Amino acid sequence: MTSEILTVGLIGGGRMGQEYARFYQELPETELVAIAEIHPERRKVVGARFGVEALFAEATDLFAAVVPDIVSIVLPGKYIRAAVLAAVAAGVRGISVDKPIGAVLADVDEMVAACAAAGIVFAGGNMQRAMTEVQQAARRLRAGEFGPIIGACVHRYGGEISGGGCQHVAVLRLLTGAEITEVVAAGAPEEALRSNCDEGLNISGQFRLSNGLVCPVFAAETPYSGVDVWTADALVRWDWGPPQIFRGVDASGARRAIDAGYEPAEYPEFSYLGTTIQSFVQVARRGVDCEGELFVSARDQLLSLEVAVAAKHSALWGSLPVALPLTDRSLCLYPRAYRWLGGDQSGVPQTLEEAAGTNT
Ligand SMILES: NC(=O)c1ccc[n+]([C@@H]2O[C@H](COP(=O)([O-])OP(=O)(O)OC[C@H]3O[C@@H](n4cnc5c(N)ncnc54)[C@H](O)[C@@H]3O)[C@@H](O)[C@H]2O)c1
Repeated sequence: MTSEILTVGLIGGGRMGQEYARFYQELPETELVAIAEIHPERRKVVGARFGVEALFAEATDLFAAVVPDIVSIVLPGKYIRAAVLAAVAAGVRGISVDKPIGAVLADVDEMVAACAAAGIVFAGGNMQRAMTEVQQAARRLRAGEFGPIIGACVHRYGGEISGGGCQHVAVLRLLTGAEITEVVAAGAPEEALRSNCDEGLNISGQFRLSNGLVCPVFAAETPYSGVDVWTADALVRWDWGPPQIFRGVDASGARRAIDAGYEPAEYPEFSYLGTTIQSFVQVARRGVDCEGELFVSARDQLLSLEVAVAAKHSALWGSLPVALPLTDRSLCLYPRAYRWLGGDQSGVPQTLEEAAGTNT
C-alpha cells in the first residue's frame, strides 16, 4: 500500500505550477502524468521541461482524456473554482489548490461541499503552516511542553490580508489549536477599505479565540511581522520561517532564545512546498477519513479568507464585533490582480526561457 505510486495531474503550468511539477518529479511516490496550461507556447515548453506528453489547454480537456489519482490546481484565483468542480466530476481521489482559495465565501463553500459529498480529499496550498519547523513547534506547544498557552498576537496583518495575510491566520490557528470566533477591526487606508480588493489594506484590532484568549492584531511591523504565541515561561515566535523559541529570561531580564532542535525536512530544498505536497500525497493515499491530518486543508484556506472578510467588514462597519462563521456567504474579498488573474493578465507574464528553466 505504501509503495503505491499516485498519478498526478497539474492544472496551471505557470511559475508556481512549475515548482509543484519539480517536486512531484522528485517524490518517488508520485508520477506527473498530465498538465493543463492554457498558454500554448508555455504549455509546450513546460511539457518538454518535465517530460510530460499529455498536454491540454484546460482542466476539462485533461479530465476528458485522463483521470489522475490526484490533481494540483495552481491557477490564478478566478479560475480555481471551475477546475475544482471539474476534478470532482472526473472522480479524482485528491485535489489541492494554492492560495488564496477564492474571493466569495459561497464559492469556496461550494468547492468544499462538493469534495466532501464526493469523498475527495481537499487540500490547501503552499503555506508556511506546512513548514516542518512550524508543525513541530505547534505539536510541542499543543502537547503542553511549554505549559498552558496564555497569550497570542498577530503582527503586520496588512498589505494583502486575504493574499499574503492568509498565512497569519493559518499559523495562529495551528499554534494555538483554537478557532477565531469573533473579529473586531479598524482598517486603513479608506480607499482600500471601500474597495472589494485587499491590496494595500492594513487591519488592526483583535481576534477572540475559542480557548478564551483575545489576540491583539497589529497592522504594522512591531518590528515583527508574524505570529507570537506564549505561555508563562516561553514564547514561540513565527516571523516567516522556522519559529524561534524563547524560554525563561537572561540575567538582564530579557527573554532567552533557545535552540529549538527541530528535525530537518526530508527535502529541504523545497521547504514548505515540499511538506505541503508530502502531506497531501500521504492523506490522499489514505482517504478522506484522514483529512484532518493535512498540514494545510482547503478548510484552513476558507477560514483564512473568512477572517479576512470579517476583519474588512468589521472595520467598514465602524469596528463592529463580527462573529464567525459569517452568516452572509455572499461577502467577498478579492486578492490583488496578480493572484486573481495571473501574470499574463496583470502585466508580468513569465517568459518562455523562465518557463523552460533555462534562464539561470
Ligand atoms: N503559496 C505561495 O507562496 C504562492 C506564491 C506565488 C503564487 N501563488 C498562487 O499560485 C497561483 C498561481 O500563481 P503563479 O505565480 O503560478 O501565476 P502565473 O501567472 O505565473 O501562472 C498561472 C498559469 O495559469 C495558466 N492559466 C490561467 N488560466 C488557466 C486555465 N483556465 N486553465 C489552465 N491554465 C490556466 C496561465 O497561462 C499561467 O501559465 C495563484 O493563485 C497565486 O496566488 C502562491
